[in-house]
Amino acid sequence: MMQALFQHNVALKSYNTFGLDAKAKVFAEVNSLEQLKQVLLETDQDKLLFLGGGSNVLFCNDYDGLVIHNAIKGIQVLSESDDSVLLKIYSGELWHDLVMHCVEKGWGGIENMSLIPGTVGAAPMQNIGAYGVELEQVFESLEALNLKSLELQTFKHDQCQFGYRESVFKRHLKGQYFIFSVTLRLSKIPVIHADYGDIVSVLEAQNIPIHSASIKDISNAVIKIRQSKLPDPAVLGNSGSFFKNPTVSEAQFNELKLKYPDIKGFVNEHGVKIPAAWLIEKAGWKGKQIGQTGSHAMQALVIVNYGGASGDEIWQHAQNVIESIVNLFNIQLEAEVNIIRS
Ligand code: EPU
Repeated sequence: MMQALFQHNVALKSYNTFGLDAKAKVFAEVNSLEQLKQVLLETDQDKLLFLGGGSNVLFCNDYDGLVIHNAIKGIQVLSESDDSVLLKIYSGELWHDLVMHCVEKGWGGIENMSLIPGTVGAAPMQNIGAYGVELEQVFESLEALNLKSLELQTFKHDQCQFGYRESVFKRHLKGQYFIFSVTLRLSKIPVIHADYGDIVSVLEAQNIPIHSASIKDISNAVIKIRQSKLPDPAVLGNSGSFFKNPTVSEAQFNELKLKYPDIKGFVNEHGVKIPAAWLIEKAGWKGKQIGQTGSHAMQALVIVNYGGASGDEIWQHAQNVIESIVNLFNIQLEAEVNIIRS
């Protein structure tokens, strides 16, 4: 028997990496674009939420609408030359599976982003990045379904307006499109990005000279670093970095530097970016457990669910952190995770 298009009152616990016990009023899983269009045409719900890997959402309560789980998969080589490959990936593929596939094939460009949870469709949404590389560096274009006209549209790099954990799909096109496929250009003559401090030290500890490191060595080093700092969601519920790293003016940074000489900052075109993890640790939150939640002992930027926490409890903790950072440093932290309240 064919599975019904819609299911009702569905537990979302296994669909979000925080492991929150929220329920979806209506739920549908889609395996193809045709199925997605059918779901959109037939639903009677106004509220709509797309879920990929569920690694960047905080459900503050049950979802009073339709949750669509994206299971549209496939990887296709569009064209290939001696030095590069153009790859089309359907948005329901798991990002880390794609990275492993490319590393095995010797296609370079995304190995620094090994082990990032979530799906390929979520990657351009917030221009994922780690260890010195961001998605936009290999991004060519994407296809997205206009949720009103149900037409597929192509967005080239400059139309996506990428920024730090930002794109047009999180800003003024928010909620208007479903990302269906992503096209990346990867290199067969890989360029090694080992400038991020931790990578160098891991390679050195393994006696791998940077100039002879392969993309597999970089991927392995990143996996090692992530596993040492970031909790595995299968063991301890979390959604990676909960906050973005804030950027302040140079004047404010200099003022803070006088008071806190060990503060770290990275100059960018907007000012000075400060690691939020440093601020949170300095404010005394690192490793602190409050009820069933708290800031992680190995990486203060990560908020964890020790088991049975509610979304609201986690959000309350996040707000307490935000408030104390304002009071101490006059800096307003912004959540990186999507806060879902319906
Ligand atoms: N630090 C602390 N305390 C901590 C952790 C870090 O003071 O508990 C300081 C250290 O001085 C360190 C600096 O913060 O030098 C930066 O730390 P880290 O290299 O761990 O990176 P991050 O800025 O905290 C960002 C991304 C991560 C990504 C890493 C590595 C954001 C919001 N987060 O974290 O992405 O893996 O860089 O590139 O930009 C994610 O988005 O979910 C995520 C995990």
